[in-house]
Amino acid sequence: MKLVHTLKDLRQHLDAYRHPAVVPTMGNLHAGHLALVRQAKPLGDITVATIFVNRLQFAPHEDFDTYPRTLEADCAQLEAAGCDLVFAPGEADLYPQPQTFRVQAPAALADILEGHFRPGFFGGVCTVVMKLLSCTQARTALFGKKDYQQLMVLRNMVQQFAMPVEIVGGETQRAADGLALSSRNGYLSATERAQAVQLSQTLRSLAEALRTGANHYAELESQAMQSLTEKGWKPDYVVARRRADLQPAQPGDALVVLAAARLGTTRLIDNLEV
Ligand code: PAF
Repeated sequence: MKLVHTLKDLRQHLDAYRHPAVVPTMGNLHAGHLALVRQAKPLGDITVATIFVNRLQFAPHEDFDTYPRTLEADCAQLEAAGCDLVFAPGEADLYPQPQTFRVQAPAALADILEGHFRPGFFGGVCTVVMKLLSCTQARTALFGKKDYQQLMVLRNMVQQFAMPVEIVGGETQRAADGLALSSRNGYLSATERAQAVQLSQTLRSLAEALRTGANHYAELESQAMQSLTEKGWKPDYVVARRRADLQPAQPGDALVVLAAARLGTTRLIDNLEV
């Protein structure tokens, strides 16, 4: 496996390949990322992972400065998973000038849910992903379904800009107790980690109620929020939404339930297709 930091070295290395399959990440990798790398292997003629903590998608009060940078351990795991090439640019490599051209994600998709609670987040994600896909000449790019709205926004971006990239989603990987794997799980104390499973349990109960035909969505959502609050969480949202576009659900729609909530100082997200 080769590790490169500059665009020049990346291009040189990719010269011989026609179909890079790319897994963009911010590093601090877990089994979810490695599953994406394994899923990418048969989808291209070279498997590329990118590692870049993207300042543009963090609000000033968020964890950009403290986000774990673990390049050496990440590379060891990527190599074991069969990755061929890692592109880990520094900020000056990826943003040699201020990134004044930005992708503006549409409000209907990007200002709801995560975008409502993290204004500017999807603009930052879209801008860096467009740039990373351009740098790596990706023909296939893989993203985890745990970031359900992100995956949807990126699919729409690639489609509307007619980018020659197929976006592939990877199933959420979970710990034995059901907690969705996330780099931010590392912020949890031991007590919080034991409690963190309550987020997926809440979503499972909501999904179960919907599966059995309940359709008083607003009431079910507020019950789920209340149940998390009573357990000491600070939920941003727990919702049932239409899978196709994340708009409010109507009876008969294919649904997904999504949640974001803070446990102590750690904000976790999760979702389940119903
Ligand atoms: O999901 C992530 O890790 C990031 O949002 C991504 C897609 C790598 C863009 O920085």
